[in-house]
Amino acid sequence: MNIGIAGTGYVGLVTGVCLAEVGHHVTCLDVSQEKIDMLKGGHSPIFEPGLDDMLQKNIREERLHFTTDRSEAYENKELIFIAVGTPEGENGKADLSYVKTAAREIAASITNDVVIVTKSTVPVGTNEMVEDTVKAHGSAYQVHAVSNPEFLREGNAIHDAFHGDRIVIGGNHQPAVEKVAELYAPFDIPIVRTDTKSAELIKYASNAFLATKISFINEIANICEITGANVEAVAQGMGLDKRIGTQFLKAGIGFGGSCFPKDTKALTSMSAEAGYEFRMLNAVLEVNELQHNKLMEKANEYSAIEKGTKAAVLGLAFKPNTDDTRDTPAIRIIEELQRQGADIVAYDPIATDKMKEVFPDLTYTNSLEEAVNGAETAFIITDWAQIKEQTPAFFTKHMKRPLIFDGRNCFDPGEMVSGGVHYHSIGRSG
Ligand code: UGA
Repeated sequence: MNIGIAGTGYVGLVTGVCLAEVGHHVTCLDVSQEKIDMLKGGHSPIFEPGLDDMLQKNIREERLHFTTDRSEAYENKELIFIAVGTPEGENGKADLSYVKTAAREIAASITNDVVIVTKSTVPVGTNEMVEDTVKAHGSAYQVHAVSNPEFLREGNAIHDAFHGDRIVIGGNHQPAVEKVAELYAPFDIPIVRTDTKSAELIKYASNAFLATKISFINEIANICEITGANVEAVAQGMGLDKRIGTQFLKAGIGFGGSCFPKDTKALTSMSAEAGYEFRMLNAVLEVNELQHNKLMEKANEYSAIEKGTKAAVLGLAFKPNTDDTRDTPAIRIIEELQRQGADIVAYDPIATDKMKEVFPDLTYTNSLEEAVNGAETAFIITDWAQIKEQTPAFFTKHMKRPLIFDGRNCFDPGEMVSGGVHYHSIGRSG
């Protein structure tokens, strides 16, 4: 099929590359010339394992094109994806201005009937608004909007695109829904067909539910610390019940990233706007806020930081295998360490450039050894493999005083303590 995609951010780019990979002809549009030039050269602006290779292959085989020209992206297309950002707006509401602009531009450029597929995470009613916008701009062609939310995880996006648990397609015009289903036939993933509004809500409900699981286990971790239980044992014992499941029960310093905080807030605010108070989600967000402070609270309890204390911040990305630092708990911790006058060295294998946009004057290193060298305290923020594979001896050898506050439970507390490390983690003794 001939496809146009509005937006080459994380969602649009991964969708475009994967659809080209299964044989469709895809033209991706972005307003940023710099980004389009980079993509044309076969380089992805985001770090995503496996993406560059697939990008280069599909450019070479002439199934994947990049442009800043709207006509090229929207003329003679059977399907047009909207994959632009829906950032947090006023009062936590999703800001739909990019979606509206895309709808207006599609109306002005299409040359035939099309199905518009909304991939962006959007509140209930947005697809209707997209359809109405196109009609209101006097398009002579028939347009049907179909909701097709994405469930890819950063760092696992290519794997998820080909092995996802489900594809959700929501629309009120059956032939349009079937057209989108046909597009995904090569993926061999179960398809959930539903109405537009339910599809829009499935995305928010899924992210909010996963966020709830995380805040729940983090509260259990806090109770474990008080009572002397071990959160990992509790999570394992709970998770083996198939109704609960083992995933997303990893306690830590809370969720971050571009999706869970934003989408949980958006669902709360969407509910409020509809006259319903989503009480549980307010608590999920509140618990997450408190959890971001956990490591510093522990450090303060042990008076670990004084003016000039050398502190290593290990991991800056909101999770491993991505360079994304949006809403990472590292931000709060660095701010607090700065306030207390610590001498900070920040380490991340790939996310230092992104963090420089937030803290341009911080000392950064891509070497874990350099980060901990001479440090009196280390804060583990991201469970990178490069950190998890270290032994207690690594820390005792390089640190001046091996005092570690681990926000991601990367190590066995018993091994760390017997190896001579003063070790504090989340929801476990030690
Ligand atoms: C999340 C969802 O998992 C995807 O299905 C969805 O498509 C995506 O949002 C989106 O809406 O675009 P992502 O933000 O990439 O994906 O990251 P996750 O792997 O879900 O992790 C989110 C945060 O939760 C991270 O900060 C992670 O450290 C934290 N987390 C995750 C925990 O603290 N404990 C866990 O058990 C799992």
